[in-house]
Amino acid sequence: MTPTVNGVIRIEGVTKRFGEVVALDNVSCEVRENEFLALLGPSGCGKTTLLRAIAGLEQPDAGHIFIDNLSQDGRAPYERPVNMMFQSYALFPHMTVADNVAFGLKQDGLRGDALAERVREALARVEMEALAARKPQQLSGGQKQRVALARCLAKRPRALLLDEPLAALDKHLRERTQLELMALRERLGITFIVVTHDQDEAMGMAGRVAVMDKGRILQVGTPRELYDRPLTRTVAGFFGHMNIWEGTVETPDRVACAVGAVRVAAPLPRAGARVAVAVRPEQIALQAVAGQSGENHFAGTVADVVYGGTISTYFVLREGQRIRVVRQNGAGPAFERGAAVTASWPAAAVRVLAP
Ligand SMILES: Nc1ncnc2c1ncn2[C@@H]1O[C@H](COP(=O)(O)OP(=O)(O)O)[C@@H](O)[C@H]1O
Ligand SMILES: [Mg+2]
Repeated sequence: MTPTVNGVIRIEGVTKRFGEVVALDNVSCEVRENEFLALLGPSGCGKTTLLRAIAGLEQPDAGHIFIDNLSQDGRAPYERPVNMMFQSYALFPHMTVADNVAFGLKQDGLRGDALAERVREALARVEMEALAARKPQQLSGGQKQRVALARCLAKRPRALLLDEPLAALDKHLRERTQLELMALRERLGITFIVVTHDQDEAMGMAGRVAVMDKGRILQVGTPRELYDRPLTRTVAGFFGHMNIWEGTVETPDRVACAVGAVRVAAPLPRAGARVAVAVRPEQIALQAVAGQSGENHFAGTVADVVYGGTISTYFVLREGQRIRVVRQNGAGPAFERGAAVTASWPAAAVRVLAP
């Protein structure tokens, strides 16, 4: 593979097994300079293992990791220009905040004024200078996290690896901390790789998201790309709701599904192939017209309405087929339960997904 200018971290074909478990299955990914990348996926999909492999805490069974185009094969964690913040923060309970931050720097041989200055700088970055003399048990969850962050930053890494940094915080702190992490990354101008299993969190803070499942990266993209153009059913199902219908390709732009004929703007595989097509609920229009048929039209009855303040979700039913539609309240007519309606959507809104 040719080196690229932007890829600060390059993961090439990394596989990691624990006995029978394949924690990472031939993972390749490029992490860009100064980006905020979220690793998103369900519990057990290999997120922590991937971070640990980048940090040098796990040795891959196959594949390579490059940082600044330099192979990290055989390099110990402390030799790598990255730092990992653990889910548990892993602070030393008997040491003060300042000593916790100084610990790694001392191991690197830093002493005296130089050491004190680096500790002060790191604590200042997270606004924790005033609490330098405290012990971890005298800190709130949010403050502990800042100390853990300061300890990572003290070594001035090229990239910070954060494992579920918001998981231990209560709900109202989470949103604030999310914004703080984004601001911190911009101030520092370094790369953040953040693990999360929460799609809203990933979408809200990351510039790009890598969606993982069962040891693999399924798709990498901006939140908008993943939402608008998922490539697989798994990714489509991960972000919000989607109507997904399986069908058979009839013509280059038409798929026969149980909900009727669906016309597609994107190119389709050959006639006879099985595909899944998908439409976001907010891309579907509702009209108070009964029985209108044809491509991309579905006539049925409103089986349920879920009122949600700014939006309402309608479930339109016909012969066991159900379509989910989201409409903005006040922007058009409202529909009652039992109303005869026709749902319709443009061909351009239809995504063709791999199973
Ligand atoms: N040290 C280990 N020994 C045995 N199995 C492990 C070890 N670390 C992780 N695993 C397994 O590897 C898989 C991926 O784990 P992990 O990377 O921790 O997932 P995630 O962080 O996405 O929840 C899981 O099945 C987990 O049980
Ligand atoms: Mg984990």
